[in-house]
Amino acid sequence: MLLTAGPTHEPIDPVRFIGNHSTGKMGYALAECFAQQGAMVQLVSGPTNQRTHHANIDVIQVTTANEMYKAMQKRAEAADVWVFAAAVADYRPKTVADKKIKKAGDELTITLVKNVDIAAALGKQKKEWQFSVGFALETDNESANARQKLHKKNLDMIVLNSLNDPGAGFAHDTNKITIIEEEATHTFELKPKSEVAQDIVDLIWKRLHG
Ligand code: CTP
Repeated sequence: MLLTAGPTHEPIDPVRFIGNHSTGKMGYALAECFAQQGAMVQLVSGPTNQRTHHANIDVIQVTTANEMYKAMQKRAEAADVWVFAAAVADYRPKTVADKKIKKAGDELTITLVKNVDIAAALGKQKKEWQFSVGFALETDNESANARQKLHKKNLDMIVLNSLNDPGAGFAHDTNKITIIEEEATHTFELKPKSEVAQDIVDLIWKRLHG
């Protein structure tokens, strides 16, 4: 099992970065569930406070989207399942200042360039026996947008988190998800993230082992 988790940090200068509110909780909870079921897990993690000590989980720490992509590329071929739970920054500063940027005018413009879409890039090399799971965080047209991502990234399953559901999302310990597959949609109640992770792992396990 190969997973991404947490945010990525995209440096602006030696002391600043662009990031997001992802805590990595969901990715780490998924890794724990897989490991408890006996799977060997490689967890490519952006900067988080999460820790895991399970003997079956190998954590690879990365900072930027590019580092996360390289770490995933190296390990993708050998994995049966890919789970993309990280909140990868879509853009990074075009240039990284080598010295701290000093305060100057009233406005500061930072030009951003697009980062690689890790799930989509690996999706292009997915083999028939490999199973790929993505996440989508949407605020509107939720199911249609999630379904579009399922196709665009060549995923077998996408887990939709709605920011419209109270108690769901980044800073909460609970989550309410819908899992979308090509032929089926599964809705779940609001639950602690550890139980949500178990629901996701149970469904992936079912698809792998029938
Ligand atoms: N993802 C990724 N690499 C990126 C961006 C996203 O691997 N550069 C993965 C995420 O880990 C998640 C899925 O793609 O599993 C969807 O992420 P999301 O941010 O919802 O989608 P985007 O393609 O970035 O679309 P948008 O932000 O425009 O909604």
